[in-house]
Amino acid sequence: MQIRLIAGNWKMNGTSDSLREITPVIEATMEFHSAVLICTPFTLIDRAITHVRGSRVTIGAQDCHPEAKGPHTGDVSAQMLAEIGATHVITGHSERRQHHRETNALVRDKATSALDAGLVPIVCVGETQRDRDAGKALDIVSGQVRESLPDVPQSGSVVVAYEPVWAIGTGRTPSLGDIAEMHAHIRRLLVEKFPGSRGGRQTPILYGGSVTANNAAEIFSAANVDGGLVGGASLRARDFLPICRILEQA
Ligand code: PGA
Repeated sequence: MQIRLIAGNWKMNGTSDSLREITPVIEATMEFHSAVLICTPFTLIDRAITHVRGSRVTIGAQDCHPEAKGPHTGDVSAQMLAEIGATHVITGHSERRQHHRETNALVRDKATSALDAGLVPIVCVGETQRDRDAGKALDIVSGQVRESLPDVPQSGSVVVAYEPVWAIGTGRTPSLGDIAEMHAHIRRLLVEKFPGSRGGRQTPILYGGSVTANNAAEIFSAANVDGGLVGGASLRARDFLPICRILEQA
């Protein structure tokens, strides 16, 4: 069966008090079939893991360094994250591609190090408004999928998140037709890259960018949408939980 995943991306938000927003999510998702993940800032990961122990909710990170250890002041490796019990790491989020000039090659190295450490990388791809206006959205995403994903024989435990840059934090989302077109395109690329029965056909493809409880049912109904990567609406249980429930029922 296809894995369905709802992932919260807290970005640079959250202090100790914020952990209480996870409690209602733990309680309400105990019987869920879909996976529920919250990617907190580094500072909260360890405590959040203790907080969710014994529940369906798992905790991930928002970035990692491509190497396991070494002279990289301020960085955190995938191995370190795995050692404390994180399950996933977001790689190549557009905010890192833009603000930290991360290239597809770097994103691929990060995702590869995540897999080596036993973490599931959530590799983000997505076009800018300018790319879309120029009719280049599919081409840009093709390059990102081909070049940012790790070269493993089986996709195994890789997740792809399609996040149009212009939809992140803006309240704007693509039409359902555009989402379905892009997800079908990514599916074809994944099957090409990871042939075989448990390959690209099984790789979860998340949609991200201004997902809320108001649009989640429509978005999750599209073919090849296996869940969501949720930013702003993941910070409060009262916003996030309805989205988790919609995916579970979709
Ligand atoms: P948003 O962010 O839901 O606030 O648009 C999504 C993301 O950047 O992952």
